[in-house]
Amino acid sequence: MSLTSILVLGPTGGFGQFVLNELIRRKTEFKRIAAFVDRTREHSRAKSNLLETFATKGVELVKGSPTESAVYQGFDVVIAILGNHAIRNQLAQIDAAVAAGVRHWYPSEFGADLTVTGNWEERYYRDKVITRNYLQQKAAEVEGFGYTYVIYGRFTEWAPLPYFGIYPKQGKANIVGSPDMLQSLTPAKIAASYLVATLLVAPTESERTFKFVGGNYSWTTIFETLGKVQGATYDVKYRPVDEARDKQKKAIEIGDVDLELACSHQVIQGTGRTLVPAPYDNDKFPDIVPTGLETTFRKMFEDENMRTTLGLNSLFSEVV
Ligand SMILES: NC(=O)c1ccc[n+]([C@@H]2O[C@H](COP(=O)([O-])OP(=O)(O)OC[C@H]3O[C@@H](n4cnc5c(N)ncnc54)[C@H](OP(=O)(O)O)[C@@H]3O)[C@@H](O)[C@H]2O)c1
Repeated sequence: MSLTSILVLGPTGGFGQFVLNELIRRKTEFKRIAAFVDRTREHSRAKSNLLETFATKGVELVKGSPTESAVYQGFDVVIAILGNHAIRNQLAQIDAAVAAGVRHWYPSEFGADLTVTGNWEERYYRDKVITRNYLQQKAAEVEGFGYTYVIYGRFTEWAPLPYFGIYPKQGKANIVGSPDMLQSLTPAKIAASYLVATLLVAPTESERTFKFVGGNYSWTTIFETLGKVQGATYDVKYRPVDEARDKQKKAIEIGDVDLELACSHQVIQGTGRTLVPAPYDNDKFPDIVPTGLETTFRKMFEDENMRTTLGLNSLFSEVV
């Protein structure tokens, strides 16, 4: 059976908004589309407005605590699109959902392939690994329970960020890695299209993995393309991996978790582990055609709505 009654956790987050918009676009193909409204957390006016907009487009708003079983009643599948600090919360949420009869979970992954050598041990993926282990355990315990991993590499629009050492306003970058190292990049809108398409493929086993990649690009190509879009020449410095690892150790000493995560990610990037190994599943959904690097960057810089959805307005609005 395909998965047609869907509850989305984190519907107003960076990637969650893309998924909701795609579900709305294809709503006639689904029985029930719901966005979870976490009553245990404060919501900004912008988030409340966004939820109301979803509701006017036919999305059901399910309100409560994410560990309350009643929230999950009647859904086939939960798509957890939770930010880094909330990924670990999935363990209790999976329990609550399974108790309510949910039989499928899409964990908050949506990035690199965790099975690439070294990624499993990396701090950046720690909570994703914990969640994977828990899902596996749950599937062994609960008849009919399963889960889907969706892997994309990095979202193209999130790649040129200070978090990863790129400063678009200044046309500068400090990259951990080397110019010819390949990055798997997938535009966020395309990533959402693929994710939603997978819901309509009935799972046949408890674990399944889909890999979708928009393209594999070297840093040289990425900076040439960014420069073309911005009308600038990037000043790029390549940094050694050891430097990022040392910074990560210092972040641990001072208890700065976000810096620790950023450094861990830079190490992953600098050792070529953001490249998703082929084969990919793009061909299973030929109607979805990934936009190229230049088109995606251009839209990000020029389209205010896109920048707002991405939450990146302050970073890019004055760039071009
Ligand atoms: N491949 C890539 O390049 C890429 C890029 C971005 C994200 N991702 C992945 O996509 C997933 C979602 O990331 P995102 O950037 O969309 O996340 P996000 O915007 O930071 O957060 C998504 C939602 O998570 C909930 N949340 C955040 N912090 C929380 C906390 N401390 N406690 C409880 N709930 C919290 C919030 O839901 P409520 O509003 O309901 O409270 C929030 O809207 C992650 O797995 C991430 O790794 C991948």
